[in-house]
Amino acid sequence: MQPVKIGLLGLGTVGGGTVSVLARNADEIARRAGRDIQITFAAAKEYDADAIVGLNKITNITNDPFLVVDNPDVEIIIELIGGYSPAKELVLKAIENGKHVITANKALIALHGNEIFASAQKKGVTVAFEAAVAGGIPIIKAVREGLAANQIEWIAGIINGTGNFILTEMRDKGRDFKDVLKEAQSLGYAEADPTFDIEGIDAAHKLTILGSIAFGMPLQFDKTYTEGITKIEKQDVLYAEELGYRIKHLGISRKVKNGVEQRVHPTLIPERRLIANVDGVMNAVLVKSDAVGPTLYYGAGAGSEPTASAIVADIVDVVRALTTDPENRVPHLAFQPDALSNINILPIEETETAFYLRMHVIDKPGVVAGVTKILGDSNISIEAILQKEPMENESCIPVIFLTQCIKEKEMNNAIAKIEKLDAINGKVIRIRMETFG
Ligand code: HSE
Repeated sequence: MQPVKIGLLGLGTVGGGTVSVLARNADEIARRAGRDIQITFAAAKEYDADAIVGLNKITNITNDPFLVVDNPDVEIIIELIGGYSPAKELVLKAIENGKHVITANKALIALHGNEIFASAQKKGVTVAFEAAVAGGIPIIKAVREGLAANQIEWIAGIINGTGNFILTEMRDKGRDFKDVLKEAQSLGYAEADPTFDIEGIDAAHKLTILGSIAFGMPLQFDKTYTEGITKIEKQDVLYAEELGYRIKHLGISRKVKNGVEQRVHPTLIPERRLIANVDGVMNAVLVKSDAVGPTLYYGAGAGSEPTASAIVADIVDVVRALTTDPENRVPHLAFQPDALSNINILPIEETETAFYLRMHVIDKPGVVAGVTKILGDSNISIEAILQKEPMENESCIPVIFLTQCIKEKEMNNAIAKIEKLDAINGKVIRIRMETFG
């Protein structure tokens, strides 16, 4: 049988890794797929030829990606250019030309996936995107296929390697935020625009995809609450540790009575939970489902070959499915397209979590009682209080409260009242907290 001909768009970190993994493991991959796989045509503006093992097997390299998607011999397009444009135009053109598409582009899928999947369905082709979420962890396959018997209750994940790498280095080595970010960029973990990593946008792209395949709803990136790690202070990391918690940047998608909570933000997690101990560039996704209970998926969330691992797994899947009817393939968003439901994604004010609150108070009798009265009057139960020594050159003392679960809008009201107290200096710092009990 003829080898399957692949067109590759992008020869950067992930593209280079894909070429190398395919070359190194060609025999095993062919035995799994049932056919040899050949990258016959690639497009890249620039690339480091010496760093890509197996590059010599690609017969044709151009700098015009449209030549690749228009090439009649190519059956599968791998889009690794990233960003919205021209990635979207290229993917839609490839679909129009009847080609299957594999992409690692979470931004593209999160924002334009509904349109892309609709046109793929019309043309009877597949768009595979395992590498778009959590790098090398096969989480899309696990949720879409492995957990198909279950009602998923919630998903919580560390899904940005760069952010986790930064938080870990800051905590363990006391390193400076910017210095660690630079290292993440040089290691090829960070996005082209690293604000996507540190402001939570990359994690929100991935959570949007996870939420959709977990609950069978169309992709709605604009409704995902997004908060990054840039405001996390070292003292909060230390106080959290003292109270038995770690701060992790989490994406959480949870089904509740009146809809789905979909939120990305720094989160305190009890340090005894496995997910609290996922460090460095590693990612982990914890899924709570009704039949199997909790399952945890752990692995490298970024980097050349880990991401290539997911890309090549998608190639094998697509090659195996080349001879199946489109309606017998796994649906893009896990549920049949006509069975997707418009579940309400709740605004952050309507979501419920526990909270870590840090405030700086004037050291005099009755101040903490004033705060606890406001919390009590607001129906907010206190889980723990920690009072610290004043910071150097400061007259106020930090006091930390851990609360039980409460609706975000009730907490906003209580914080506004606390900040009005004369004895409170500055803003109340709030970090959401989950126990996953
Ligand atoms: N910038 C991303 C991360 C790459 O750090 O997780 C993988 O999606």
